[in-house]
Amino acid sequence: MNPLALELERVRSSGRPLYDLTRSNPTEVGVPFAAERIRAALAAPEVLRYRPDALGPSSARAAIAADARGDGLVIDPERILITASTSEAYGLLFKLLCDPDDEILVPQPSYPLFEQLVRLECARAVMYPLGFDERWFIDFAELEQRIGPRSRAIVVVSPNNPTGNYLKRSELARLAEFGLPIVSDEVFASYSIDAPVDCVRSVLETAHVLNFALSGLSKLAALPQMKLAWTTLGGPSEQVREALSRLELMADAYLSPSTPALVALPELLAARHVSSSHVLGRVRHNAAALRAGVSGSAVSVLPIEGGWYAVLRLPALQSEEDWVLSLLRERSVLVQPGFFYDFAREAYVVVSLLTPEAELAEGLERLLLHVASRC
Ligand SMILES: Cc1ncc(COP(=O)(O)O)c(C=O)c1O
Repeated sequence: MNPLALELERVRSSGRPLYDLTRSNPTEVGVPFAAERIRAALAAPEVLRYRPDALGPSSARAAIAADARGDGLVIDPERILITASTSEAYGLLFKLLCDPDDEILVPQPSYPLFEQLVRLECARAVMYPLGFDERWFIDFAELEQRIGPRSRAIVVVSPNNPTGNYLKRSELARLAEFGLPIVSDEVFASYSIDAPVDCVRSVLETAHVLNFALSGLSKLAALPQMKLAWTTLGGPSEQVREALSRLELMADAYLSPSTPALVALPELLAARHVSSSHVLGRVRHNAAALRAGVSGSAVSVLPIEGGWYAVLRLPALQSEEDWVLSLLRERSVLVQPGFFYDFAREAYVVVSLLTPEAELAEGLERLLLHVASRC
């Protein structure tokens, strides 16, 4: 067990209250749900019938396109593939794009699961850095150096987990110039906190290269337990057609999404605002509370354009690990160290903006007292 897990176990078994600022499971942080509508949708008569469809039933794909239209994004339902999670979608996409030992370019810092997801497909994740200068950006000089003959796709996360930066229009144009397929994780796209005007709504805005936009119920509707996600293909028509038919063949080997979730999907999307508008209000409230709370302290909050996370910079007086362990030991506050996400420098910690407001406020106060005591 690592030192953080050990310390956490000690705090939990001591019976002391824990200020857990890492919780991001929306079903366990007091988010309201349209419970009756969800239960009724899952009890529809059609859930007793099995009609396999590798890309997903057209009713479900039409509902996804209609929901996206409500968010200002026009997509063709015929270009959608439904999977049981975005992780499954990544697996299919890396199978589609890679032979063994081929390379996928992955941003850093970002979602820690990428390396494993790429490796499970016998390919290699090659990290490219995001830079920070008042806001996060793709370091194109570094990215270009890492592109080689085995590169098969570039992954972007917009807004990124945990740095919150959206992909910008100029960045998308430069990415497309490399000619490689772009895999864009847009699961947090509808949670805009302080999105700049030059951000793109979706990678689908480019027609120049083959691209894949990933989204799903786990973040959009705060329903990770429904296990439904989708990938929309964009780019040159011939390439889209070919990629879609190969994906269909692969998805047909698994047929993973469950019928009850697929049948319920139109209603789950129609009712999602009960949860997603609450989540949006909470992440915006918590982001503002963090910014106001740290003012005048030695802690700063990095700009948060969108998503469910905030990055705090602590004085580099000690290592990230020491900050995180001492916060837990002495103040009962749990945060994630930046090295979980491969930040290039120390000392950063990550907190979840989904934390209930009162718990976040108390945890922040304790964190600030702790930092002040060490300065
Ligand atoms: C960037 C990103 N993509 C995808 C996911 C997971 O999505 P799913 O539950 O559909 O696999 C997460 C979960 O935290 C995430 O942070």
